[in-house]
Amino acid sequence: MFERRSCSLIAAFLFVPLTAAALQAAEAPAKPDPAALRARALEVLGVLPDRMPGAEHDTPERIELGRMLYFEKRLSINESQSCNTCHDLTRRRAGVDNEPTSPGAFGKRGDRNSPTTLNAGFHFAQFWDGRAEDLKEQAKGPVLNPVEMAMPDEAEVVKRLRAAPEYREAFAKAFPGEADPITYDHTAEAIAAFERTLITRDRFDDFQRGDDRALSAVELRGLDLFLNVGCTTCHNGPVLGGTSFQKVGLIHPYETKDLGRFLVTREEGDEYKFKVPGLRNVALTGPYFHDGKQTDLRQTVIKMAHMQLDRELTADEAAALTAFLHSLSDKARVQ
Ligand code: HEC
Ligand code: HEC
Repeated sequence: MFERRSCSLIAAFLFVPLTAAALQAAEAPAKPDPAALRARALEVLGVLPDRMPGAEHDTPERIELGRMLYFEKRLSINESQSCNTCHDLTRRRAGVDNEPTSPGAFGKRGDRNSPTTLNAGFHFAQFWDGRAEDLKEQAKGPVLNPVEMAMPDEAEVVKRLRAAPEYREAFAKAFPGEADPITYDHTAEAIAAFERTLITRDRFDDFQRGDDRALSAVELRGLDLFLNVGCTTCHNGPVLGGTSFQKVGLIHPYETKDLGRFLVTREEGDEYKFKVPGLRNVALTGPYFHDGKQTDLRQTVIKMAHMQLDRELTADEAAALTAFLHSLSDKARVQ
């Protein structure tokens, strides 16, 4: 050991300038080349499109009706809750309530964390377990869910809306030429139309569209790691997720009672599988996971790498990955 040390000392004396440069390089890893990084990132992630699937038929009138309904507390049994209560879009909130799990109309909490409605229409299915195919099917759920908005049945919802002159007018405009525009199906269709406008814009997209300066050096390194360590085997596509069901605790188990996708399919092998959440706006949507039990984003990243990839991140790597995730926040919400 002594021998080794004296050797490196001699080397240091002989090559002082070179050693100093090498040391510096070790401390601050070389900035990845933006163009090469972008090419790889475009392949597996891409850019958020300007339009969501299904938006072709969304008229301004239908979107406006959907907006009214999204904020409508009369859609809950005791007029205490709207969609916005658990998926808050006001005050620059990111389509979530930032609660581990959400209290419903009677204060009782559900079992799962409220995911964001922002960019949700880009996902291949809705809910943590994917039990709804799309936004329209999803929107029919919470209104009648007894621990959420708790309306007794569709007829009661329609009755309330028909009693309101502003809705008689708004439905007629949103669904023109129909004898009976106020239906439960149309209610869900209009809410979905509004949700299809919830597309966010962030610095990562600016980078993907060609702006080399949109990301800092540490964020670029985070992106490089995100592509290299295996995060994109699950978090891929323009939302960085929402494309598959995967087991939480794939290599090292995660403690939860929730069987996830299995509850929908009853198929062996689907236990503990959840829809891979999208990571757009993730810095704003905590706490994390289906149970809302992870409060800190950096710790969540460390946990993911360990559980899903059997990879122990260094402090620097965790910081860089977390910095990259911050670049996915909607610019209008973080300015
Ligand atoms: C009491 C809180 C609460 C209310 C009110 C509520 N939601 Fe949710 N929402 C949740 C929770 C919790 C989940 C996740 C449940 C699950 O996956 O099993 C969810 C899931 C969703 C999703 C799926 C997102 C994804 O990534 O899978 C969408 C979209 C959504 N809600 C929209 C709405 C709309 C529209 C309304 C109003 C009609 C509404 N929610 C009312 C709590 C709520
Ligand atoms: C094998 C698939 C897989 C891999 C690989 C993976 N993830 Fe995940 N990720 C998931 C699943 C599934 C969840 C949801 C877990 C849950 O809710 O219980 C998740 C959740 C997350 C969350 C919390 C999001 C939220 O809204 O709750 C973050 C942050 C995250 N992953 C980041 C990463 C990072 C960074 C990497 C790479 C180091 C990574 N993931 C690798 C499947 C994966």
